Amino acid sequence: MVVGSASQAPQIVRELRRYWHPVATSASVSGTPLHVDLLDVGIVLYRDAQGVTALEDLCIHRGTPLSLGKVTPNGTIQCGYHGWQYDSTGACTYIPSKGRGGTIPRKARVEAFLTTERYGLVWCALEEPRAPLPSWPYDEWDKAGYRHVMLDAHIWNSSAGRVVDNFLDVSHLAFVHKGILATDDEAVMPEQRIERTPYGLYYCRKETEAATPHSDPGDLIFWEYFVYSPFTAHIKKTTPSGRETIISLLASPTSAKKTTFFFGLGRNYQTEPEHDQKFIDFHYDVSEQDRRIVEQQRPEEIPTSLREELHVKDADAASTAYRRLLADLGAPPDQLP
Ligand code: FES
Ligand code: CO
Repeated sequence: MVVGSASQAPQIVRELRRYWHPVATSASVSGTPLHVDLLDVGIVLYRDAQGVTALEDLCIHRGTPLSLGKVTPNGTIQCGYHGWQYDSTGACTYIPSKGRGGTIPRKARVEAFLTTERYGLVWCALEEPRAPLPSWPYDEWDKAGYRHVMLDAHIWNSSAGRVVDNFLDVSHLAFVHKGILATDDEAVMPEQRIERTPYGLYYCRKETEAATPHSDPGDLIFWEYFVYSPFTAHIKKTTPSGRETIISLLASPTSAKKTTFFFGLGRNYQTEPEHDQKFIDFHYDVSEQDRRIVEQQRPEEIPTSLREELHVKDADAASTAYRRLLADLGAPPDQLP
């Protein structure tokens, strides 16, 4: 499959339905219904003893969002308008106006979606997923000696592809994050090799950074990038003294021009919780610098045909590889390079 331009967006949307996407933090999903959007589908999430349920947020009776209703003690969700109840498979189990034991029409159901929980997040797939959940660099999410913080949802007015592309882009650091992530704007980019992996991409570089809580000035940092198609990416930074920082972006295509994403901040130093805020504040400072650029990029949807933009060697190596990765969504695995 070749995804050529924004005009073919529906095709890419059909493919994206078959991947896991993070839709909420686990902490935000409770017995109170929560509305989220994924690929323009309104979803209601709620938690009971069995785990998290995800249903289409649209009562079949009169089109009321089920998220305006409530979860009953027997684990069904009850519409707030006329009280119809649905179980976790989306089947209507009770229509109050018909009384207990009243027959329920077979068509009285809403769509149910697959959910799972991992990394402090609730993930949802609209159709049977064709790839596993993304993993963490060297499985460090589960490793002792690490402190991980998963931040609340960020919502940007841009496509998920643009948001991830910005995270992977190295040559903007000297301009957008000058004095923080890069030292000057003499931003000559060395040769950059990108590896295609079974899950996406891997590349690395060695570079100093100006002033971050992750390193000391002058540290020559080993930066590793791990991309999981379509919208998860991690940066692992290792200092010569062994300080490891993992910055993770887990994005979810809310709609073609809106993205909900989650940020994971992991570190193997200063692991006491009282240090968290310093890393969180730093993240938001950097992230705001990116947002004012990314939300204004046009077209909002990332072009996956390389002919639609201009690319330069090395500096754009990761960006072009990422565009190819998105263009390959939906290709049978044996046809991937
Ligand atoms: Fe939901 Fe009537 S609209 S029960
Ligand atoms: Co940036």
